[in-house]
Amino acid sequence: MKSLVVYSSQSENTKKLADVVYENLDGEKDIFPVEDAPLIKEYDFIAVGFWLMAGKPDPKSAQFLEKLGKDDNLFLFATHGAAKGSEHVQNAVNHAIGLTDTAKIAGSFTCQGEVNPKVLEKVKQKPQPPIWLADAADAVGHPNEDDFVALKKIVAEL
Ligand SMILES: Cc1cc2nc3c(=O)[nH]c(=O)nc-3n(C[C@H](O)[C@H](O)[C@H](O)COP(=O)(O)O)c2cc1C
Repeated sequence: MKSLVVYSSQSENTKKLADVVYENLDGEKDIFPVEDAPLIKEYDFIAVGFWLMAGKPDPKSAQFLEKLGKDDNLFLFATHGAAKGSEHVQNAVNHAIGLTDTAKIAGSFTCQGEVNPKVLEKVKQKPQPPIWLADAADAVGHPNEDDFVALKKIVAEL
């Protein structure tokens, strides 16, 4: 069993989840930021971590997800400013799955990730602020220890 963890992360939130996934996988394993992700045919299991941008997986992750083949065994994880379990997040995860519609989905995990304050200030100025802005205050301090524990449990059950 050889596993690959690939993640995209601008402000380290998703990287923290990627490290937890990596540490809790058994067997041979590799971890790469998406920019350096290798050719993916040699892996039995692939975990892809993305952050939400404009209600979708960030563009680099989306590009990577599109490359996956029908036999790839995939786990998705993500961070977002929106509330965990919200429709906004569910739609984004479904979108990610849609990009990989021929891959096998072993599971998924998402949690809030603190939003860069500069980004928040910009977003607040928009004539129509995005729906997730209302939840962003609750994202402060995430991902936190509780998120890591929940993620570890899911990875252990894979
Ligand atoms: C340009 C930009 C767009 C974002 N768009 C969304 C969004 O549509 N929905 C959402 O829930 N969070 C959004 N966020 C918040 C990030 O997804 C969240 O803070 C995430 O944890 C960042 O992950 P990272 O630290 O791994 O880069 C956005 C953040 C940025 C910088």
